[in-house]
Amino acid sequence: MMRRTRATAAASAAAVLLLLAGAPAGAAAPAGAALTPPDPYFPLGGNQGYDVRHYDLDLDFTPASHLLDARATITASADRPLASFRLDYSGPAVQEVLVDGRAAAYRRDGQKLTVTPARPIRPGAVFGVVVRYRGTPERISDPALGDYGWINTPDGAVALNEPDGARTWYPLNDDLRDKATYTFRITTPTGVTALANGEPAGPPQTRDGRTTVTWQMRKPMAGYLSMVAIGDFRVTRSTDGGLPNITAYDPTGSDDGLLHPATAQAVAWERKRFGAYPFDSTGGIIDQVGVGYALETQSRPVYDGGTDELTVVHEIAHQWYGDSVTPSTWRDIWLNEGFATYTEWLWQEDHGGPTVQQVFDTYYETPAGDPFWNLETGDPGRDEMFNYDAVYIRGAMTLHALRTTIGDRDFFDLLRTWARTHRYGTVDTGDLLRLAEKISHRDLGPLFDAWLHTAAKPPLPTPAR
Ligand code: ARG
Ligand code: ZN
Repeated sequence: MMRRTRATAAASAAAVLLLLAGAPAGAAAPAGAALTPPDPYFPLGGNQGYDVRHYDLDLDFTPASHLLDARATITASADRPLASFRLDYSGPAVQEVLVDGRAAAYRRDGQKLTVTPARPIRPGAVFGVVVRYRGTPERISDPALGDYGWINTPDGAVALNEPDGARTWYPLNDDLRDKATYTFRITTPTGVTALANGEPAGPPQTRDGRTTVTWQMRKPMAGYLSMVAIGDFRVTRSTDGGLPNITAYDPTGSDDGLLHPATAQAVAWERKRFGAYPFDSTGGIIDQVGVGYALETQSRPVYDGGTDELTVVHEIAHQWYGDSVTPSTWRDIWLNEGFATYTEWLWQEDHGGPTVQQVFDTYYETPAGDPFWNLETGDPGRDEMFNYDAVYIRGAMTLHALRTTIGDRDFFDLLRTWARTHRYGTVDTGDLLRLAEKISHRDLGPLFDAWLHTAAKPPLPTPAR
């Protein structure tokens, strides 16, 4: 019999709600066009009816005025007939929308851009949408989640989108399950540096005092991991273990030369433990952003004001766990932060620090009844999705409890198999449970329930024999 995990139970409840709210039976979506339930924490994000394949973002940006003059070209396939469709967008004024080269009607409503093409799109058709827009994008300042989205800096801008900030600077289908490839074509006054995810495609082109650089992310990427950084940067390039490593730092801050070698070391060490590195390059960017966190933007994380070895180890671990293997919904954010935090513990133990067991034991001494235990790691709530104790630390403790239960051999097999079988995909906690049970031949439901789906101190796991 199939175990109904919390995640699948909630997902089917949401699907039923959608059906109730939607068209009468018989007028349901055509075959192959499954309704995807909205994200439980960000129900306004994501759209039905199409699947994005590629984003081509043409961004002309002037640091002195912070003016963005942009053209987004979205290639998507329709999974049903589309008389109109919606995109997530809350950026500057839209000037024009084209669908397959013809002017389309559009309307803005809150954080949505609704597009009505001149002719309906046929099911199965691949179609192109061009959105031209111009103005100064603005960040999101959320009372619980802090500042994110397009952040203007004194010498440029940097875009950090987790969780739903991409809509501040381009129109997209902001659904974790709709990954796509990206091209960034960034034009600035000559002398300004522009970086993004992935690898440069060809040399910069200069004309009339403006320079255009092109970056390409050739592997599927969720919108929250897309990134551009524009400003005054010192760039370092090397090839380490066959992988291009491109790092940059804002010279007005402190670099200290740590970022570039620490990135190469973290990638080399993590490849040995987690298996093949999922992207075509690595790197990192230090900028004076002022948001107070680092972000695992795909292939090239961004660090605010500086960094240290453990933070680099954390953000590089996200390349496997978070960026390549991505939760289907934000409720499962522990699958990102628990794995990245556990990687820090593994690294420390291997580099003369405390053992993982010592770290676990210290946190486990926290008395029952302490607020440390008062949220569900597997469903912390939208406002507490980055709660350090509940999601990062208790997420890592959950992995250690699992390791204790199934033994080292099965646990490290699980880490690698998880990264390999779900590469570039989306997952939920139920997928991890099923894989862990398959590898270990154990019933792990009670362990997952106690560590992830209970807002109380769980019992100590029984060690594998
Ligand atoms: N995922 C980032 C990290 O753990 C933290 C992002 C925080 N984002 C936010 N909007 N507060 O490294
Ligand atoms: Zn993290």
